[in-house]
Order: sequence, then structure tokens, then C-alpha cells
Amino acid sequence: MSDKIAYERHGDIAVLRIQNPPVNALSQAVRAGLQDGMSRAEAEEGVRAVLIVGEGRAFIAGADITEFGKPPQEPYLPDLCNRIEASPLLVVASMHGVSLGGGLEVALGAHYRIAQPNARVGLPEVHLGLIPGAGGTQRLPRLTGAEAAIEVITSGRHVMAPEALELGIIDRIEEGDPQTVGLAYAQELLDSGATRRPISEMPGTAPIDWDAAYEAAFRKGRGQISPAQAVRAVQASAEEPFKVGMKTERQMFVDLMETDQRQGMIHAFFSERAVSNLPELKGVTPRDLHEIGVIGGGTMGAGIATAALLSGLKVVLIEMKDEAAKAAHERIAGNLQGAVKRGKISQDKYEALTTEALKVSTEYASLSDVDLVIEAVFEDMDVKKQVFAQLDAVCKPGCVLASNTSYLDVNEIAASTSRPGDVIGLHFFSPAHVMKLLEIVVADATAPEVVATGFALGKMLGKVSVRAGVCDGFIGNRILATYRTAADHMVLDGASPYQIDKALTDFGFAMGPFAVADLAGLDIGWATRKRKAADRHPDERVPTYIDRLCEQGHFGQKTGQGYYIYEKGKRGGVPNPEITRLIEAEQKERGITPRDFTDREIVRRYMCAMVNEAAKLLGEGIARRPLDIDMVLLFGYGFPRYWGGPMKWADLQGLESVLRDIESYATEDAWFWQPAPLLKTLVAEGRNFDDLNKEAA
Ligand code: CAA
Repeated sequence: MSDKIAYERHGDIAVLRIQNPPVNALSQAVRAGLQDGMSRAEAEEGVRAVLIVGEGRAFIAGADITEFGKPPQEPYLPDLCNRIEASPLLVVASMHGVSLGGGLEVALGAHYRIAQPNARVGLPEVHLGLIPGAGGTQRLPRLTGAEAAIEVITSGRHVMAPEALELGIIDRIEEGDPQTVGLAYAQELLDSGATRRPISEMPGTAPIDWDAAYEAAFRKGRGQISPAQAVRAVQASAEEPFKVGMKTERQMFVDLMETDQRQGMIHAFFSERAVSNLPELKGVTPRDLHEIGVIGGGTMGAGIATAALLSGLKVVLIEMKDEAAKAAHERIAGNLQGAVKRGKISQDKYEALTTEALKVSTEYASLSDVDLVIEAVFEDMDVKKQVFAQLDAVCKPGCVLASNTSYLDVNEIAASTSRPGDVIGLHFFSPAHVMKLLEIVVADATAPEVVATGFALGKMLGKVSVRAGVCDGFIGNRILATYRTAADHMVLDGASPYQIDKALTDFGFAMGPFAVADLAGLDIGWATRKRKAADRHPDERVPTYIDRLCEQGHFGQKTGQGYYIYEKGKRGGVPNPEITRLIEAEQKERGITPRDFTDREIVRRYMCAMVNEAAKLLGEGIARRPLDIDMVLLFGYGFPRYWGGPMKWADLQGLESVLRDIESYATEDAWFWQPAPLLKTLVAEGRNFDDLNKEAA
């Protein structure tokens, strides 16, 4: 017997207890152990039932994802599930914690399922670019009907035990030790003369409008293949006998396993977990965090305060005047009311947060007890320095002093205080209580335990925290500035902003760069261009047509006009003819003859610009690992998850081809398209970004 499965006899019942921490993933040893355990139970005198149960925090979290992409090893999971189901003994699964993917499929192979009240089940394979591959698409619809099965499989969501009971996925809910309640249930079934109940022998699923369901899943997936494929697999459960349906499912699973999307999504899964795991912080203890201060109650400050309150921290928010303080309080209360509406907190909790946990004040002295303070005031170095001077004067020793600046020099801010070791950048993304990304900007003098405290705060707030070094724009905004410039150049040369936005949303981005600019406010880019005008290199190409629009007072969505025209009450906007006119005028002035761009070329140039700048950041040490960049783009910039991030995308294309394209673009504009030295080195050495991730692990 495998040491991953404990075998015990309790009277007529054999218990197979899975022991594969942390989450009982179905590694080869677990699969083999379950298979052997079934055979032993069947061979032993007097055994009438088998109870499958998990030890530790979960029943089974699914297939062992670390085995994906490697040659499959027997016993295969579908065979194991079929083998469990075909047993002449009565098989019961007792589920606690999560039963996901292959974990739920093992349970569906059992004849009866009992679960803890707080247990969660689901088939999240679509989040890994796959479909359930061990009978999930064939057995689940036989229990729930096609529509519910499609909803559960294509969303990949976790279903709580009470809903799972209602849907027929489990048979009973009972609180207690999973093995104890499982044994009692199995005994009760034996005593009542219950018979085996293989789902495969239940009637096939009733048909629905499969094409409509397929189209809906395809649209929702925004280019992701697996949810739409899952619909076809469920269709097989209605149209094919069980055994044939299993083969159909298996073929689709195997085909998806070969896709770039599967690789991209699994890279995203592991990177999301690795990103805040910094070797430099091993053994470093973060400082205690109970109460934090926030300076500035605008959209950003109020968002940060909201996120902190929701995570259980007390907050002191500072505004300059009484009126602004009142408005900040209302803004935070509004955000929290949203959380009540979405069922995240109760009305009582809302009252407690807005009256007891939140204090809004106009006095810096109110910050004397806070453990960490985040400044979210106007982006101006002099203003920031004044704020930090006041914080330096009132905050207790050991208080972490953080700036939410999105591009200013954190070293300069730190040097203006008497405690640079306590100063750090914490760059949130707006709205801060919604967006998952947090860039933790480490300045030259920042103490390791201050960095660890930044990561601890990120964890409390449920953020994906990424370490960044100091430079203009840190990781995200510096890369954004570069790929935005590539898009601007394409506009000057003949691609319309609307073709570019469409090509990039077709590629999978949540929004195109020009729609994003309208949302963020065109005045932001305008101010940046003015700020940088003096230091421009003579070869730098900067379009000015959009400045003409800003001069007319049009700043995007907030003024109703930008690249697009927005009508009140309507979602999205329509192309603004004034933009086309201004672009044509600029092309004429510069003597540019516009040319056609294919969507493929648009995507390629945009992506190459992104990867090249990212490789420069890595070479400079601003970002430590390629996966850090991937997570910034995924969680802060709407990058399609199924590509895994820009560095994973580049690896999947082959770095040689990416470098070749950059070098060919450089023949038109050598200043903008300077290949990153790191990219050249990697190509010369035949390595890729993933190799760098592995070396840093
Ligand atoms: N395989 C291998 N390792 C896994 C794993 C899996 N299925 N699920 C989780 N882990 C690992 C994580 O990588 C993490 O490892 P480190 O501590 O080394 O970083 C550890 O287990 C704990 O995971 P989390 O940090 O995510 O812990 P959590 O409590 O926040 O979440 C969880 C636990 C809900 C199980 C979450 O990890 C999760 O969603 N896991 C993936 C579940 C999944 O997708 N299952 C389907 C697999 S595909 C399948 O089963 C297809 C098939 O039919 C063949």
C-alpha cells in the first residue's frame, strides 16, 4: 500500500484515508494507493462498504497540477474513478474542505456523498485551460441536469455544501469529524439495505439548446477555449452512451492539455502563489499591524481605507479640511454600502466599521498610534515631502511610512525623513478596494522587516503583492508607457485607435489602450507629456493630436468625450470623428502617408514593446523575476490570464522570434525599438524567461 493512503477496518467498513498534504492532490502515489485500497477492501473477508476520506484541510483539491505536461503515469484518473464506481462494495465519500476537479470526480465515482456544512465542491479545470477529464462532464449532468452542470463547469466556481445538496451533487450534510460522520452514514446505508448507485448507470442528460450554450460560453471566455469545449463535453453526456461520452471528454481534455492556453493558465496559477514568496524575506518577521493611517480621502485614499477596514484593520484617515473629511467619510461609507449590497458584510458590520473602526480627522496628531501610514495625496514631490515631514514628526518609532505614488522617486521621499529605513512605496490600483494588484516599491534604504510588513499588509488585504524597485513608473506604469507609445506610433502611421482597441480586445485584453485612456482621464497623460517634454530625446516620436483635444477641455469618459463619445446612460462609447480629423491633420503636418496594419501586426508590435521594456526592467533589477512582471500585467492591467502574462507569452512565441521582430521594427525607429540587452543574452544562450523564474526559485 502507498504511504499516501491509510487503510483501516471498522467492522464491515474499510476506510481509505488520503494523506497527501497540504491539499491531498491526486498524485500518482495517491491514485495508486486508492486503487490498491479498493482491491484490498474487495479481497478482505467481511468488508461490505468502503469509505473514502481525506486527512488534513481538504478531501481532495484535484489532480496534482505539478504533474501536468509530464508523461502521464498509471493508474490514470478516469480509470480510477470508473474502478471505484464499478466496485461491488458500497462506496461512500465523506467530504470536507474542498473537493475540486479530480477530487470531486473521485467523489462522483463513489455511490453516496456526505459533506461538512462548510465543504466546497467544484470543477475548476477551466481556470487551468482544461475541462474535467475524469468523468466530471459525464457524471455531474446526470445528477444536476445540463444547465446547472454547464454553469458549474464553465464558471469553475466553488459550490457550497447547501447548494450542492440542492443540486443533487451530494446526498447529505452533517457536521462532525469527516471520518466519524462518514462511517455512521455508511453503516446506516448498509443497515437500511441501500444498494450501489453508480452515476454512469443513470439516464443520460436531457437536451438543451447546445449551440446557444456554446456561444454564450465562448463569448464569456473572451477568447478562452476551454469553457466552450466544456459545453460540447456536457452535450456528449446527453447524446452518447456513458462509455462513449467518457472517450469524447478524454479526447477534448488531452487536446486542451497541448494548448498554449493550458500552459499560460497553469503558469498564472503557480506564479500567483510564488509572487509574494521572496527568498530575501525568509526568516524576516513583519511588524505588527492593527491600525493604519491614510492621508487623503479622494478615490484612492478612500479605496485603500475601505480595503483596510474590510480586512479588519482600524483606520485613521486624514484630510485637510472639515468638508473634505466629511466627503471622505461618505466615500468610504458608500464603498462599504456596496459591500453590504454584495452580501460581503452585514448591515451591523457596516455600522461598526463606519463608526468604531474608522476615524476621520484633520489633525496629523491623530496618527500618533498607527502602525503604518499610507500617503495618497497629489502626485507632486514637494507636496509629498511636506506630508512626510509631518509624518516624521508625529508617527511613533517603528511606524511604516508608505507612499502610494505611482511614479515619483521613493528614494528622494525617504531621504527627506529622519527614518529612511521605515519608508516604502505601496502602489495601489484604483479602485483600491477592488483591484487585486499592489506594487511594493523597495527603496535603497528600506529595512527588510518594512518590506515584509508591506507584504503582510498585502496579504491581509487579499492583494497580489509584487516587489518592485524604484524607477519612473515602477513595473506596471513604466511598461504601460512603452506599449502605449507603440500604439501611438501605429496611430501616427495609419492604424486607427478603434482598430487597435478591437485587435487587442480580440487578443483577450479586457479593454484596448485608448478606451483605457478615456477611462483613466486624458488629462493624466497630457500632464505627463508636459512634465517630460523638456527631457525628450530628439528622435522620440510623440503624437500631439490628443493634446489638441485636451486643450478643448475633453478628457475622456468624465467629460463625455475623448477617443470615444459617451452618451449618458449608455455603456461604452462610439468613435469620436474629431479624433480621426485631428490624426489626419497631424499625419499631413508630419508628412506621413498612412498605411494599413493587420490586426496581427498590431498585436505583435504592442506585445513586443511590452516584452522589450519588461526585459529592460529585469536587466536593471527593478523587477526580480519574469513572473513578477506577469502578475503585474495580469492583476493590474487586464492582461488575458490564458496567456499567463507577457513574459509567458514571449516564451510561448519563442524569444528568438520576438527579438527578430524587435530588430526589424528598429530599422524604422532605432530610438524606440532598442532591443533589451537581457533579451539578446537569453536568445544567444538559448534560454527563456521561465528559466530565469526557475533559477530564482
Ligand atoms: N496540485 C498541486 N498542488 C496544489 C494543488 C493541486 N491541485 N492545489 C493546491 N496546490 C498547492 C499550492 O500550489 C500551494 O503550494 P505552496 O504552498 O507550495 O505554494 C499549496 O497547495 C496550498 O495551496 P494554496 O496556497 O492555494 O492554499 P489555499 O488554501 O489558498 O487554497 C485550494 C487551496 C482552494 C485547494 C487552491 O489551492 C486551489 O484552488 N487549488 C487548485 C484546485 C484545482 O484547480 N483543482 C483541479 C485540478 S485539475 C483536475 O483535477 C483535472 C483533472 O480532472 C485531471
